[in-house]
Formats: sequence, structure tokens, C-alpha cells
Amino acid sequence: MDSIEDFESIQVLHQYQYGLLISKVMFTASELGVFDLLLESGEPLSSGAIAERLGTSPSGMERLLEACVGLKFLRMERKENRSLYGNSALADLYLAKSSPKSQYNFMNLLSENLYPSAQYLTDAVREGTEQLESIYGASSKNCFEVLYRSDERLYRFSRAMDDVWSLCGKEVVSAFDLSNFPLICDVGGAAGTLAKECISLHPNSTAIVFDLPEVVESLKKDPAFSQESWMTFQTGDFFKDPVPEADLYILARILHSWNDEKCIQLLTKLHKACKPGGGVLVVELVLDEDKCGPPEAHLYSMLMLLHNKGKERTSSEYQALFTAAGFKEMQLKKGTLYDTLMGRK
Ligand SMILES: C[S@@+](CC[C@H](N)C(=O)[O-])C[C@H]1O[C@@H](n2cnc3c(N)ncnc32)[C@H](O)[C@@H]1O
Repeated sequence: MDSIEDFESIQVLHQYQYGLLISKVMFTASELGVFDLLLESGEPLSSGAIAERLGTSPSGMERLLEACVGLKFLRMERKENRSLYGNSALADLYLAKSSPKSQYNFMNLLSENLYPSAQYLTDAVREGTEQLESIYGASSKNCFEVLYRSDERLYRFSRAMDDVWSLCGKEVVSAFDLSNFPLICDVGGAAGTLAKECISLHPNSTAIVFDLPEVVESLKKDPAFSQESWMTFQTGDFFKDPVPEADLYILARILHSWNDEKCIQLLTKLHKACKPGGGVLVVELVLDEDKCGPPEAHLYSMLMLLHNKGKERTSSEYQALFTAAGFKEMQLKKGTLYDTLMGRK
């Protein structure tokens, strides 16, 4: 190796080359229940005991556990000449299903749906358009139509979307002072998880969750669904139907799914429906102005290219959408994971 620069470049090269396989090792251990078993057992276990309890081959499990130690998902200790495995802090907190901050559902969506769909990324870039037919084997106007063809698919998507709010929901709803908005409408709010975060911070406010009729009807049948007394559901298509009047509209991970024209159409509708002094709170991964980062926003933008007609945007691109829809001012608050933009009427 010629220089330290070569060494660093090769390290980055390897990290990226193997990125998919690193994720897959984590997803496989998660799917087989390794992290759950180790959290429940409360003590480190041998590879043989883990394989027996989870019904896998001893040799395959040993190989998987060793890889998880190498990747720091697990830790290993030697006792009486045996290797014993336990969860790392990261696995206890985020990978085990029973943890309140578990990202299990989102990992499942990545593993079973989003990563396999990435095989069509080259086609999406060549053609500049989403690849719904190749991904889902069905022609469709948008990915929501396909996702919502079965209750099970819908539950899984909705739970996966909710996982991130256990990490940063509180941060997102406290980025701006929302105490002066007594009536909040979470537009495309699915099961209302972010609305719940909002109301737990502002218990004197009430919330309406607005989503497609088939989504709300189906989510209400999900055993994981719970409806609070301060929360009502209103159904409709936000492009075609009237939206309820409110003081504040939340648009979390909505605008990134649509092109500029559709975003302006939706924001204009909300501007008209918004009470004077009200506003819109947009929650998205905002790209840096020079579009050189953050990497998460770029990766999501690739997913939007594959699955939707949308993209991630910079703050000034959001400002242009807000202005075109009639909003007076817009402010951005950067967050740890998700960023928040507030437009005022
Ligand atoms: C990516 S999910 C975001 C859910 C939630 N806002 C969040 O961030 O956790 C997009 C949501 O928009 C809803 N949606 C999509 N198209 C819609 C439409 N035309 N009218 C109403 N809701 C729609 C979907 O059903 C879904 O719940």
C-alpha cells in the first residue's frame, strides 16, 4: 500500500462494498430471533444453546454469531473453554423486538422490500422514473396503491414507519413551540403515532389524523392499533378531497414522495384550509444546500426515485414550495435524524 490515503480509501471502499452484506447479517440475526433470545435470557448463551432454542443448524448459527461479534452487534466472552454470546448495548436497545426503541419493523421492511427493490436502481437512473412494475410485479400509479393491497402489508409498512418515532418523535415535535395550535391535523398521519407524540407534549390540544379511507379502515383492525380520546380520524384523498380545518398541519414524510407540482397542490390546499396565524410543519430529511450531504437524505432520495415520483430536497427548495403555496415565512430546525420545517400563514 502506497500511502495512508490509500489505506483510508480502501477502508471506505470495503465498508461500502460490503454494506449490503453487513445489513443482511444484522437482519438475519434479527429475523431468527437472536437478539430477542439474548435479551430475554439475561445471561450469555453458548452457540449450541442458541441454535437449539431457535431451531437452526449449529454450524450456521455459530458462523452467524461470530460475524455478529465481528460487527459489534453481539459480544463474546470465554468461560471454561466455551464461547458465550450476549447482546451489545446497541442490540438490547434497537435490535431486540421487545425494546421500546426497537427498529425491528423498519429493518424488516428494508430486508424484505426496500433492499430487494434496489436491484432496479440502475433501471430507475437510466429511465429517470420509478420501477413499480419490476418491484411489485404489478402496474400501479404509486407505491401506496400496491402496499395497501393487503392488510398484512399495510400493517407492516405502518409499523415500520412508526419505528423511527420512538427514536426522534419527541425531538421532532419539540423543534418548534406548538403550544399555540389547539387543533392539529396530521395529514397522511397513518395510525397517528406522531400526532400522539405531539399531544403528549401539548395535552390541551386535540388532533385529527387524515389518511386514505382504506388505510384508516385497515389500520383500525390492526391488533397494535390504539385510539386516544383526543384523537379523531378523518378519511379522504389529500389531493381530491377537502381536508379538515385546523391550526397546524403536520406533513411528516409526505412531500418527499411527490413531485414539485403535487407538493404545491397539497400545500396550497392546506394554506387555504389553515386558520389565520396557523401553519404547516413539514418533517423530512433535508439535504444540505450544496447537496453534498447528509448521506441518509441521499439514500432516501434514491428510494424515492425507485418507488415514487418524489425526492429529498434542500431548505431553499422547500422554501420555494412554501412560497408558491402562499406561505409567508419558513423556518428550518435541523434534528438528529429528521429535520423540521415550519411554514406560517
Ligand atoms: C410514508 S407514509 C408517512 C406516514 C406518517 N406521516 C409518518 O411519517 O410516520 C405516507 C402516508 O401518506 C398516506 N397517503 C398517501 N397518499 C395519500 C393521499 N392521496 N391522501 C391521503 N393520505 C395519503 C399514506 O397512506 C401513508 O400513511
